Amino acid sequence: MSVTNYGGIIVSLKLPGPDGRLADVVLGYDRLDDYLRDPFYLGALIGRYANRIAGGRFVLNGKTYALAANNGPNHLHGGVRGFNRGLWNAAAFENAAGSGVALTYRSSDGEEGYPGNLDCRVIYTLSDDNRLRVDYEAVSDRPTVCSLTQHSYFNLAGHGSGRILDHELMINADAFTPVNEQQIPTGELHSVAGTPFDFRRPTAIGARVDQAHPQLQLGRGYDHNWVIRRHSGDALTQIATLRDPASGRSMEVWSDAPGVQFYSGNFLDGSIPGKEGAAYPARSGLCLETQHFPDSPNQPAFPSPALNPGEVYRSTTEYRFRS
Ligand code: BGC
Repeated sequence: MSVTNYGGIIVSLKLPGPDGRLADVVLGYDRLDDYLRDPFYLGALIGRYANRIAGGRFVLNGKTYALAANNGPNHLHGGVRGFNRGLWNAAAFENAAGSGVALTYRSSDGEEGYPGNLDCRVIYTLSDDNRLRVDYEAVSDRPTVCSLTQHSYFNLAGHGSGRILDHELMINADAFTPVNEQQIPTGELHSVAGTPFDFRRPTAIGARVDQAHPQLQLGRGYDHNWVIRRHSGDALTQIATLRDPASGRSMEVWSDAPGVQFYSGNFLDGSIPGKEGAAYPARSGLCLETQHFPDSPNQPAFPSPALNPGEVYRSTTEYRFRS
């Protein structure tokens, strides 16, 4: 794995196939300049609040906060200069769990409109049993909201090897949060039963992605938050399995987050050449972004993303690779 301290971006992640051959399974660029202009959040850390906040505003403890609007009238992935554009401090380490890098970043009071100085720490640990663990931590000196995630686009056949439509996906969720025409949750939870959103059994992504389901039309494919089925409090739950039958590589995602955005890379458009000159057209990579539900700061029925002084925001996601 290689990581840059610009945006905490995972630049490459090489994984053996059953034949032992390594493939780089995440999309990325060869040059920093391409990351500087990238509108797709390839491989980046996302904060202070992953996903959309409606109208770029929210009310916390009776006070209204106006955020940067960078997605029509809405706020997306932390704003114009989200954590994906921050310069993080980085320290490499090795310990009994594996080797990795600890990244820290201070998001100052008022940055992109959010209240409170937020001190964040994200630790990437790569272990010998082919697990990538991401530990997120943050504290604030004023009440604020926080939801951090990782925005790697996976293609288990190898980046630049075409579309991910043959990848089989399982998502451990009975419901998802439907959206309006601006991709803001309506506030309802819809059962996945009988819809193209039912991934409770492994199903090829391409099998239903172009069905005439109104929610698929709104996202131009899958771009929704699934409500993770959870039996116990904090322990990591298996939230998804992704398998590429052709290459034999697979990945389980385990997390303690309440939701996961499955994004089938619909807005990729090939406009920026990828690593080694690869082309990244629509659906050539997919994201599984563990997160609080989108727009939770404005949705009282969703799990609260509020973070108060004295509390610690903690979240962990593990990607367990197999071949
Ligand atoms: C969102 C998409 C958005 C993309 C930007 C995803 O996390 O769900 O709607 O277009 O990020 O690359």
